[in-house]
Amino acid sequence: MTHGELDIAYPQYHCPLCGEELPLVDARLTITCSEHVSDERSVAYGIRPAKDSDLSAVEDICDRALGETDVDVFGASFDVLSTDNLLATDDGDLLGLCSLAVHGGDLAIVLLSVYPDSQGLGVGRALVEAAVSVAEQRSLPFIKVVVTNDDIPSLYFYLRLGFVVDDIAIGAAADSLGGASRGFSGIPIRDEIRLKRPACVAGA
Ligand SMILES: CC(C)(COP(=O)(O)OP(=O)(O)OC[C@H]1O[C@@H](n2cnc3c(N)ncnc32)[C@H](O)[C@@H]1OP(=O)(O)O)[C@@H](O)C(=O)NCCC(=O)NCCS
Repeated sequence: MTHGELDIAYPQYHCPLCGEELPLVDARLTITCSEHVSDERSVAYGIRPAKDSDLSAVEDICDRALGETDVDVFGASFDVLSTDNLLATDDGDLLGLCSLAVHGGDLAIVLLSVYPDSQGLGVGRALVEAAVSVAEQRSLPFIKVVVTNDDIPSLYFYLRLGFVVDDIAIGAAADSLGGASRGFSGIPIRDEIRLKRPACVAGA
C-alpha cells in the first residue's frame, strides 16, 4: 500500500467544528486566540505501558495512522510491535499510542498517534510527558522525534513541549516512502525535521 492511497482512505484528524474525521490531505489549520483553543469536551484516561494482550490494539492504531507497523526514522527502521509502547486508555479503550526505542543513546519517539475522537484533549501531551519520564528513569539525556516537513500540527505540538530543531534530513522522508506522497493538507512529504529536547527541562 502506498502512503498516497493511505492518506485518502484513513481518517487521521477530526474537525473541531463539525466533528468530521478527516484524511490527512483534507485537514486544514485554523489560527485562534489562546482563549478559543480549548475544547469543551473532556476525557478521563490513564497512561500505562503496553502488555502482550494490547498487541492487536497497537496494530490497529498503527494501521489507522500509517497503514503498517514499520516506521523509518533517523535512518533506522523500527517495528512498533517490538518497541516499548505507552498507551493512553479510557476504561480499556485505546485513545493513543506512544512508541519508544533507544537510538543513538537517546530515547526516540518512533510514533505518536492519538485517535481523531480523542485529539485536542491533552492525550498527546500526557503521552509525551510520560515518555520524558521514561527517559529520565533510564538516565537517557535526550528525547527526540521526527516530524515530516508537511506536518505543521505535530511541529507546533512538539515545539510547545520544549523540543527544538536539531537537524533536517533533506529528502529522507521521501526516500523512506519510496517517492513523493501527499501529507498534511496535501503538502508533499519530503524531509525529516529532527527535534530534540533534554529529558529534563526547567519549567517545561
Ligand atoms: C499531534 C497529536 C499527537 C497531538 O495529540 P493531541 O492529543 O491531539 O494533542 P493535545 O490535546 O495534547 O494538545 C497539545 C497541543 O497540541 C495542539 N494540537 C493538537 N492537535 C492539533 C491540531 N490538529 N492542530 C494544531 N494544534 C494541535 C493543541 O492545541 C495543544 O496546544 P496548546 O498547548 O497550544 O493548546 C495528534 O493530533 C495526532 O495523533 N496527530 C497525528 C495524526 C494521526 O496520527 N492520526 C491517526 C490517529 S489513528
